[in-house]
Amino acid sequence: MLKSPSFAKTVVRAGLLALMLGTATVQAAEAQTAKSLYDRLGGDYPISVVVDTFIDLLLVNDVLNANPAIDAARKRVPAAALKFRVTELVCQQTGGPCKYTGRGMKESHAHLNISEKEWQAMLTDFRRVLNNYGVPAKEQRELVAIVESTKNDIVVRK
Ligand code: HEM
Repeated sequence: MLKSPSFAKTVVRAGLLALMLGTATVQAAEAQTAKSLYDRLGGDYPISVVVDTFIDLLLVNDVLNANPAIDAARKRVPAAALKFRVTELVCQQTGGPCKYTGRGMKESHAHLNISEKEWQAMLTDFRRVLNNYGVPAKEQRELVAIVESTKNDIVVRK
């Protein structure tokens, strides 16, 4: 049986609508994956909270404080300044709008004589904080990769 022309039009319109909705969904998914890590983390407020907790943990880490150079720096450098600098750096490295204004990683850590064991202790604290704040696995991997990219400039002994 032949359908009426108006029925055919309705079918065509419904098909077009489904196509448009499908395209919109694909576009939304693409926009999601194109988001910077900075945006996926929620911007500078959540980033600064994670950095704040992370540095508070580092400051009482016994493995790190057994190194006299780290212990002396911890007592000399204001924690708030360190948190500000690290937040600025993370913001920039994750694609955010900040411009890091501190010193390079080699220059700012050379006098601390940081070892592989101390690096691993720092990473354990870092992962603990990311887990506690519920940072998803993908974003954690990207953040750890950013941190790892600085290792050669920071770790100077076994
Ligand atoms: C075991 C690993 C680490 C330890 C023990 C450590 C400790 C410190 C300490 C004590 C300072 C202050 C130094 C001073 O002014 O005398 C410092 C500075 C800084 N650290 Fe680290 N750090 C470590 C790894 C990292 C990593 C992985 C990053 C970033 C990805 C980072 C970013 C910074 C920044 C941005 C500063 C400030 C630089 C400036 O003064 O302009 N640190 N760190």
